[in-house]
Amino acid sequence: NFTPNAFVEEMVGELKEKLGNDKVVLGLSGGVDSTVAAVLLNQAIGKNLYCIFVNNGLLRKNEFQNVLNQYKGMGLNVKGVDAGDRFLSELAGISDPETKRKTIGRVFIEVFDDESHLIEDVKWLAQGTIYPDVIESVSVKGPSATIKSHHNVGGLPDYMKLKIVEPLRMLFKDEVRRVGATLGIDPELLGRHPFPGPGLSIRILGDITPDKVQILQDVDSVFIEGLKSWGLYDKVWQAGAILLPVNSVGVMGDERTYEKVVALRAVESTDGMTADWVHLPYDFLMKVSNDIINKVKGVNRVVYDISSKPPATIEWE
Ligand code: XMP
Repeated sequence: NFTPNAFVEEMVGELKEKLGNDKVVLGLSGGVDSTVAAVLLNQAIGKNLYCIFVNNGLLRKNEFQNVLNQYKGMGLNVKGVDAGDRFLSELAGISDPETKRKTIGRVFIEVFDDESHLIEDVKWLAQGTIYPDVIESVSVKGPSATIKSHHNVGGLPDYMKLKIVEPLRMLFKDEVRRVGATLGIDPELLGRHPFPGPGLSIRILGDITPDKVQILQDVDSVFIEGLKSWGLYDKVWQAGAILLPVNSVGVMGDERTYEKVVALRAVESTDGMTADWVHLPYDFLMKVSNDIINKVKGVNRVVYDISSKPPATIEWE
């Protein structure tokens, strides 16, 4: 029977003993796991924890600045590194999903490694790995490991030579959330939908350009804000928008348009291994579709994804 209070007390003690006066570096992603790991470590070792939050240019709209401010407000020792241009230029011309993931993984490691070298005498790398991540990366033959190479686990270049500390590696997601609540982390942050490490890159089918990223950020933002204001956000496990690599004909005033199509996706799930599409109210879909087409230049058609996993996946790439 899991008790978050006891876990926190025990883990903080364990971390203090294990880490002593060593410096630790941790990559924050804006997600629940890395945030909870950081706050736990912050309680144990305070300013010896160096957090790095990298903008890969593929986060949600305004997310880098908002989340960075939130982290600072929580008292974390965090450095924001805006590497958006670097990621986007390395991704230019790449359409293959796995090549996108590998490129982002590689550039992330390069950026992170450069930053860690700036921290004098750092000894440890902390990660927000949770139990399902451990299982998934061990079972290389498991479906999601072979179909999509998740880059949250491992991926540590030898030359970093850091010891690894993973305070959440025995916990399930709901336990991580409960620990986060005990630590006083903002419930809104703890209730955030999962968001893939490669970010919007795998929701832009085909090649990625800064313009496409901006269109998708705007569409996604209308959709997510809509879910929140209709009280639907917490009823959905994960939601997002996908920018399709096709144009469709539309009409605006007397003019014929030929613009982008976006798909909306909202799923119910417990662990992401299986998922059902959510029966969002028609009134909501109607409002959000109108808002997207009216507010986001370059989009003239919205479709809703009604596929379940399996046989579809949650992401389109
Ligand atoms: P799929 O598309 O495989 O997604 O049904 C299942 C869950 O995993 C997330 N996902 C990823 N997360 N790196 C990540 O960190 C990835 O490359 C990746 N691909 C998919 C997806 O958002 C969903 O929550």
